[in-house]
Amino acid sequence: MTKYLVTGAAGFIGRSIAAALLKRGESVRGIDSFITGKRSNLAGLEEMEFIEGDLTKPEDCARACKGVEVVFHEAALASVPRSVADPAGTNLHCVTATLNLLVAAKDAGVRRVVYAGSSSAYGDTPTLPKHEGMLPKPISPYAVAKLAGEQYMQAFNRVYGLETVTLRYFNVFGPFQDPTSHYSGVLAIFCRKMLAGEQPTIYGDGEQSRDFTFIENVVHGNLLAAAAPAEKVAGQMMNLATGSRITLNETFRILRELTAYSGEPRYAESRSGDIRDSLADIHLAEELLDYKPVVNFREGLKRTVDWYRESDALPPR
Ligand code: UD1
Repeated sequence: MTKYLVTGAAGFIGRSIAAALLKRGESVRGIDSFITGKRSNLAGLEEMEFIEGDLTKPEDCARACKGVEVVFHEAALASVPRSVADPAGTNLHCVTATLNLLVAAKDAGVRRVVYAGSSSAYGDTPTLPKHEGMLPKPISPYAVAKLAGEQYMQAFNRVYGLETVTLRYFNVFGPFQDPTSHYSGVLAIFCRKMLAGEQPTIYGDGEQSRDFTFIENVVHGNLLAAAAPAEKVAGQMMNLATGSRITLNETFRILRELTAYSGEPRYAESRSGDIRDSLADIHLAEELLDYKPVVNFREGLKRTVDWYRESDALPPR
């Protein structure tokens, strides 16, 4: 029997969760449509049963969920600007896909679904840190779509008794994150460019801040969320982050040391849908999951730079 399903298994976060499960000797199935996932991310996951499929198709969801006990739902089009350019596409691959997956999970008797929520749900409210009791204020189509997914999670818990757990991620970064698209996360882009000696662009004045979360912390939180007692976590939503924030300017300075890039950034106009500051309150995850970050920002950034330096994600110079 396949115990775990990981959606978005060829994506950055999905492949990292799958790798951790395989390392523990678990039986894992992965599904990915390769819209943003990459075949090369499946390297090292040969023990995983892999389905090339699309969650917007109910039959692919049914095939993926068959015989599974726990689902990690990481598949999404994870980009604010991409959602601004194509809101309907983001809705299809984040909302419709999530609903299809939940229906299939319920029908297949899946016990628990752990969902990749997003800090973007908090929007641009000045209150820091962001805590789970705050009213959501999504300001981009991406944020609306990820929030709709959360609410479907809660409804499927209430109505059908599925054990759903939402983890609101805050700017995850680390090895295997795609650095090549202009929809990529900022740290992936900066690492790639600065290692290649290219000038990175900072949108806005660079004083915007984020709770950048190294991938190992996210994997750790997911494994805890899968194992936590249902009476504690079923139907719950919580932040998964580090509880500290750093500005883009400061991050650029650290990256300059790590990559030996000697230039200055280029400053350009702020991006639409962008928020100013983001910082998580992580007490709820501490209480419900006994979660604590396992790798700090600087160490995570160092490991990430080392990985990009050694990987072939970098274009030839
Ligand atoms: C948002 C969400 C995050 C989600 C992610 C998916 C918030 C707080 N966070 O991240 O939870 O996982 O979308 O994509 O809403 N930037 C540059 N130069 C670049 C690229 C980006 O300056 O080359 C800036 C952006 O304008 C932004 C910051 O870096 O201010 C971070 O951008 P990005 O990595 O895309 O993530 P968010 O939009 O913060």
